[in-house]
Amino acid sequence: MTLIETIEQQSARLESAGVSFGHGTTNAFDEAAWLVLWRLGLPLDALDEHAQRELGTAELASVRALVDERIATRKPAAYLTGEAWLQGLAFTVDERAIVPRSLIAECLAEGSIDAFLPDPTRRVLDLCTGNGSLAVLAALAWPEVVVDAADLSNDALAVARLNIDRHGLAERIGLHQGDGLAAVAGRRYDLILCNPPYVNSQSMAALPAEYRAEPAMALAGGVDGMDFVRTLLRDAPNHLTEHAVLVLEIGHERSHFERAFPTLDVVWLPTSAGDDQVLLIARSSFK
Ligand SMILES: C[S@@+](CC[C@H](N)C(=O)[O-])C[C@H]1O[C@@H](n2cnc3c(N)ncnc32)[C@H](O)[C@@H]1O
Repeated sequence: MTLIETIEQQSARLESAGVSFGHGTTNAFDEAAWLVLWRLGLPLDALDEHAQRELGTAELASVRALVDERIATRKPAAYLTGEAWLQGLAFTVDERAIVPRSLIAECLAEGSIDAFLPDPTRRVLDLCTGNGSLAVLAALAWPEVVVDAADLSNDALAVARLNIDRHGLAERIGLHQGDGLAAVAGRRYDLILCNPPYVNSQSMAALPAEYRAEPAMALAGGVDGMDFVRTLLRDAPNHLTEHAVLVLEIGHERSHFERAFPTLDVVWLPTSAGDDQVLLIARSSFK
């Protein structure tokens, strides 16, 4: 059987098993291609080149076993491969941290935050950093800034450390443990990025198993999803410089956000998932 036939076969198995996507891929074919190429030790962009290669019996068995594991455990593929990709960059991943997929990464890559930044922008905070991916992408996007990355979870911070070292950024990214902005008491930033836990409790109860394989504290935001965000917006002014901005991801919680903060002036940033999932607040908008 060729590589492409194998991927199609495993894709059909994922499809009929009803696994859920959303942790780096959006469909069964891409997920199967990822798992098969990874298991064979081939680069993830090498499908066209190797599509007609015949696979041996041992290779087929090994691929099948990995897809069996994906179906049986419902773990996201990234937890099985130990790696996830965001904006073309590889990140180390394991079950101590959520699989990185923040839409803020798109804003960093596309430069959609840049026009709002104070000049100069020197200090950036990635609050709720998880595996450190946004801190790494921010440091690479703006070579002149220093970045603090904070999280409540020591487990997540251990994974962030792996990624900071993996990308050679230990000199420019500092790690801080603590609850919200208390982790960086007394510090002010020109930019705060935050992809917090924001899933409301009704949505939490309906999450597919793949999402329940991730740390609950990375997702659960209380009844209306805004528990963390309320505290963040209360405390943020004390951590922003005069012309600073805060960029916040809220996923599908716009209605809850607007109910919680009806008078707050925000700018919605465009993303591939729509124009109402990532917002920006200027320091001057806080009363
Ligand atoms: C949605 S994840 C985002 C992770 C990462 N920034 C990303 O985009 O992949 C939310 C993160 O917030 C952290 N977290 C949850 N409650 C927190 C709190 N009270 N203070 C700081 N971090 C918290 C979780 O450990 C998790 O790593």
